[in-house]
Amino acid sequence: MNAPTTRGLPADHVVVADDVPHLCAALAGWMCDRLATVRGRDFALAISGGRTPLALYRLLGSPAWRNSVAWDRLHVFWCDERCVPRADAASNFGVAHAAWLARVPVSQERLHPVPVGEAPAAAAAYDAQLRAFYGASRLDPARPLFDITLLGVGADGHTASLFPGSPALAEQQAWAVPVSRPEPPSRVSLTLPVLGSTHAVAFLVTGADKASIVGRLAAGDDSLPAAQVRTRGERIWFLDRAAAAELA
Ligand code: 6PG
Repeated sequence: MNAPTTRGLPADHVVVADDVPHLCAALAGWMCDRLATVRGRDFALAISGGRTPLALYRLLGSPAWRNSVAWDRLHVFWCDERCVPRADAASNFGVAHAAWLARVPVSQERLHPVPVGEAPAAAAAYDAQLRAFYGASRLDPARPLFDITLLGVGADGHTASLFPGSPALAEQQAWAVPVSRPEPPSRVSLTLPVLGSTHAVAFLVTGADKASIVGRLAAGDDSLPAAQVRTRGERIWFLDRAAAAELA
């Protein structure tokens, strides 16, 4: 399950583009190509929040890409969420919905945001929603939950809302967990086994402020949560040149 590394990163492929627009076009094209290969069933994405994917979401919601996906077959889940109202600027659902999902013909019942509310109850409810969607309470490695898991990486190496040293990194039973943070809001995050239950993991990382953490990941620092996403699926990193500056 641990594919060879590429340029040191825990990856099967690494795509480096000169700038964010070109990188997002490459990632959008890869996503559409992968989803086009799914036959006879709906497909499911798990997407992340934060600053980085906003350019991608805006591109996917633009007229140029709006008809590039069979949106009526798409289900969207979130890798993590901040426990804020959906209209809050910090809401991962709110950001992706405004930039992309409200602009394409995907029906609302195929959008599966984390329930709003206190983290423990929201995590428990999302955990149950994921198992109900999957149709079983145990993940079968031969039947991944997602077709694509889209992840970012924080400057500290976190991914989703799994932070360095967090006990949530060791969680193997729950599919979604509450995450308390020193600074509010609290969060809900999918756990590593669920993030890895996918046909493909795509990491999207941009900006000079991420060059150091990408370098640490390439140097094999397995303590970093982003290095701990294990999957039988494809692992592909999409980096702009600034974030890839410390790669060999
Ligand atoms: C979140 C994201 C998180 C994000 C990283 C990178 O809710 O914050 O899901 O995991 O991917 O923090 O964030 P930036 O893209 O803002 O650097």
